[in-house]
Amino acid sequence: MATTEPLKFRSGDLVIRPVRPADRERVIELCRDIWDGHDYVPRVFDDWVSDSGSAFQAIELDGTVVGLQRMRPYATGLLWYEGLRVASSHRREGLARHMLQSAIAEAREQNFREVRLATGNPAAAKLFEEVGFVRLQDDRWWKGMRVEGGESARIPGPSEADKIWAAIASSPGIELWGGVTADFRGAQDVGAKELSRLAGIGMLRSGPGGRAIVGLREPWGNNLAVAFVAGKGGALRDLLLALRFEADADGLDDVTVALPRNHPAGDELRASGYDFANDDDTSYVYGLKLSP
Ligand SMILES: CC(C)(COP(=O)(O)OP(=O)(O)OC[C@H]1O[C@@H](n2cnc3c(N)ncnc32)[C@H](O)[C@@H]1OP(=O)(O)O)[C@@H](O)C(=O)NCCC(=O)NCCS
Repeated sequence: MATTEPLKFRSGDLVIRPVRPADRERVIELCRDIWDGHDYVPRVFDDWVSDSGSAFQAIELDGTVVGLQRMRPYATGLLWYEGLRVASSHRREGLARHMLQSAIAEAREQNFREVRLATGNPAAAKLFEEVGFVRLQDDRWWKGMRVEGGESARIPGPSEADKIWAAIASSPGIELWGGVTADFRGAQDVGAKELSRLAGIGMLRSGPGGRAIVGLREPWGNNLAVAFVAGKGGALRDLLLALRFEADADGLDDVTVALPRNHPAGDELRASGYDFANDDDTSYVYGLKLSP
């Protein structure tokens, strides 16, 4: 994607350009004091810098990289925004806002329908809201440990997606998803099409009579990771328990569920032996619609 012309910023020259392999050391240095040294960007640097399908960008001030961001197309019309970082030496100077606005302008130029992102940082959330992003989800994390003995859940086929969606489309709390899944690597539109996609890759599970479903996502750790839950009552409780059996059968530690705050499925999770993994943390999904 395009490199912007140098822009006068405070006293220096500012330029946004693609990250290059030669930026590796500087990027590692910049991320060293982020999240107590646990930032994932140094780990994914090589993949991101070599991925021609996305835009991994650096912002340079007088020739020094002082910030990063990445935009990745992940579904038709949808762009995932991630990796926003500003060097601690240059915070609160408007650099993140400048990068974000430039990213949005590029997304508009390229006719994306919507930009989405996930963040756990309330300061960043404030910035995203200031530039027009709408909070779609305010999630909490639940965890259910593996348990021996029972049967794994049914894996429906893609041809069942329409019927399953019709059965769960108005289940309690469905609106709390804000129309998207809690997949923090690319929140998808919730609907029959997504259920069909998930079924096609073996990532959909259904409860008795198709009256409850969960959509899985790629896990970060040794777990079964749930990004969407719908249904209610006994059907949902059976399904949630079946996931704990599946985790055991697959040698995984636990089942991790991201669920919107105050979602009624919290009661079923508790009844099926799941606990809050975070009560105080924040975890949000945001979206910015670019076309009417
Ligand atoms: C979040 C981060 C990118 C902000 O970068 P920045 O260049 O300092 O942000 P800006 O100066 O452009 O700030 C824009 C607005 O964001 C909000 N903001 C930024 N930092 C803030 C903070 N520490 N506290 C409260 N609000 C903050 C403010 O509304 C600010 O506007 P203002 O300065 O006019 O009040 C930076 O702090 C950072 O890299 N943090 C660690 C990594 C991270 O959490 N990234 C976001 C993950 S999605």
